[in-house]
Amino acid sequence: MYRLARLSLVLAAFSLSACAADAAGKNDSAGEITITEFNAPVAQPSGYFGYGQDASVEEIAGWDIDIRPDGMGLPPGGATAEDGEMLYEDQCALCHGSFGEGVGRYPVLAGGEGTLSEDRPEKTIGSYWPYASTVWDYIHRAMPFMQPESLSDQEVYALTAYVLYLNDLVEYDFKLTQDNLALIEMPNKDGFFLDDRPDTSNEACMSNCKDPASIRITSAPPATEEVDSDVVEASGAEAASGQSTYEQACALCHASGVGDAPIPGDASTWAARIDAGREALIANALAGKGQMPPKGGQIQLSDEDVIAAVDYMLEVTAN
Ligand code: HEC
Ligand code: HEC
Repeated sequence: MYRLARLSLVLAAFSLSACAADAAGKNDSAGEITITEFNAPVAQPSGYFGYGQDASVEEIAGWDIDIRPDGMGLPPGGATAEDGEMLYEDQCALCHGSFGEGVGRYPVLAGGEGTLSEDRPEKTIGSYWPYASTVWDYIHRAMPFMQPESLSDQEVYALTAYVLYLNDLVEYDFKLTQDNLALIEMPNKDGFFLDDRPDTSNEACMSNCKDPASIRITSAPPATEEVDSDVVEASGAEAASGQSTYEQACALCHASGVGDAPIPGDASTWAARIDAGREALIANALAGKGQMPPKGGQIQLSDEDVIAAVDYMLEVTAN
């Protein structure tokens, strides 16, 4: 419901400024602004401020998908880890590993118990998460990474059971249902607590205070090497941004070839594509192709950024 609430806040702010403009327009001849009509709240029809329309029950249900720790919000259903095993192998193991050990830098889903207080804690579902309900919610909401919300409720039960099984939290043939999911005790459930410390313990100085002009910020930013801007412009400022865009937005799939994404530097994965020409590759990177969403899913990127990333990928492959 949070996203919905935020949306209406934005709408309200927008409408307030519209009201102010309206009120200002109602100056009477004596130069006074009549605002009394804004004081008395009255029941409003649909489209309260004259914008948009009421969200329908179906629209609200589409957003209201959170599952509470007590299991509230779970749809009816149930499945075992056995039911989820093949599905997990098909849709999840390529990133998370057959045993939840994580492939490359994808998240590790199992293990790590007892490591939270070590120098390098391994936060997994079993070692870290306080509630089993979050596993259902997360998989349902966000996975598989490239097709979120594509799984049926039954599939989510099966995958949740399987991931819990990988963490030794349920047996292979245990049927996980809407009634027993919230009863599963997560090992780290007591590792979370309500942080009720006050925001600040400082008291405002009212007398005998320091002269503000005498206060200096003493820490300095780390020294950066001086860069000759002409040199940057001449040599590969574009290449650098292509590389950083690639690392931030494309490497996720392209570094390891997820879903048969061509791998920079591995010419065999590019050969047929390069034959189609740079323009075609760029067009597909912008518009999406197969399992790749437009701009690799990062629609905030400018076309130039995406083009630079494609050029970077081609350059690495050519060399
Ligand atoms: C293309 C790779 C990919 C595939 C396939 C994939 N995931 Fe993920 N998964 C990710 C990434 C990346 C994250 C971290 C996302 C983030 O932090 O925003 C993640 C996070 C998760 C998490 C939360 C882990 C944590 O500790 O925060 C769970 C649980 C999970 N995935 C389950 C699944 C399941 C179940 C499937 C199969 C239906 C699946 N994933 C398929 C890439 C993938
Ligand atoms: C979610 C995974 C994913 C991400 C993120 C991603 N790609 Fe891809 N990309 C793919 C897959 C899968 C293919 C192969 C598509 C096919 O051939 O059906 C592909 C293909 C391509 C191709 C070849 C297109 C062609 O015509 O054959 C280019 C170029 C490309 N990606 C560029 C990018 C760039 C640039 C980014 C980052 C801005 C990016 N990709 C991010 C998965 C991804």
